[in-house]
Amino acid sequence: MTATAESPAVGEVQAMLVTLRILRSKPEGSDDHAPGEQYWQEFQVEAHATDRVLDALHKIKWEQDGSLAFRRSCAHGVCGSDAMRINARNRLACKTLLKDLNPAKPIIVEPIKGLPVEKDLIVDMEPFFASYREIMPFLMTTGNAPTRERLQSPEERARFDDTTKCIMCAACTTSCPVFWTDGQYFGPQAIVGAHRFIFDSRDEGQWDRLEVLNDKAGVWKCRTAFNCTEACPRGIEVTKAISEVKKALTTGAI
Ligand code: SF4
Ligand code: F3S
Ligand code: FES
Repeated sequence: MTATAESPAVGEVQAMLVTLRILRSKPEGSDDHAPGEQYWQEFQVEAHATDRVLDALHKIKWEQDGSLAFRRSCAHGVCGSDAMRINARNRLACKTLLKDLNPAKPIIVEPIKGLPVEKDLIVDMEPFFASYREIMPFLMTTGNAPTRERLQSPEERARFDDTTKCIMCAACTTSCPVFWTDGQYFGPQAIVGAHRFIFDSRDEGQWDRLEVLNDKAGVWKCRTAFNCTEACPRGIEVTKAISEVKKALTTGAI
C-alpha cells in the first residue's frame, strides 16, 4: 500500500509539528540579553511521535540555530551526559520519547537545577564531580597485591549490584530539594557512588567512606524526599541506598 495525504502506509508514522520552549543563556550575552541572563525561546520542529527529545534538539541545532548548546554523546542512555529538565522533571533527552510528553503542548526544556549554568542547557558539573571524588570511588585494599583475582560469591556481588548501574548523569542530585538549597550537601549520587564500594566484600575502605558520609555534608542531610529515586534513568533505588548507608552508620553493621 502506498501512502496518500489522507492515509499513511502501514507502519509509517506521520510527522507532526512540535514546539520546544527552551530556557537559554549565553555567557557573552547578546543585543537583547545581558551575559548569563536566562530567557525563553520557542522553536518548532517537524518530528515523529517516536522521536526522542534529543532528536528534536538536534533538528533545532542543525537546521535552525547552531548556537543552541547542550551536552550529549552516546544518544543511547549510557554516557549520562544529556540529563536535563524536561516538563519539570529530570530526564535524559535521549531516553525521552515525544509521545510520552503530550507533544500537542509545548515541551519545556531547562538545564538541570542546582549547578551553575554555563550556556543554554549546559551546566558546570565540577561541583558534582568534586562530591563524587570526596567519597573515594575506587577499590581500597591493604596488604600485597594478590596473585589472582579477588573472589566474590554471587550473593556478595548482588549486595551492591543496583548502585553499579550509575552513569553519573546527575539527574538524582539535581532533583534533590536539599541539594538546591544547601550548598554543602554531597547529594544522592555521591552516596550511591559510596554505596557501590561500602557494600563490596572486596573493599577495605568502607569505614573511611562512612566517615566522610557521616560528616555534616553527608547522608544526614537527606530528608527522604524520594525525588532522586524518581529521577534516576537507570531505575536505581537511590533513597534505599541512602537509607542503607544511614543504617550502616547507626548500627555499625555492613
Ligand atoms: Fe544518574 Fe541514577 Fe546515577 Fe543519579 S544514581 S547519577 S540519577 S544514574
Ligand atoms: Fe534528596 Fe533523595 Fe534524600 S531527593 S532528600 S537525596 S531521598
Ligand atoms: Fe548518552 Fe543520553 S546522550 S545518555
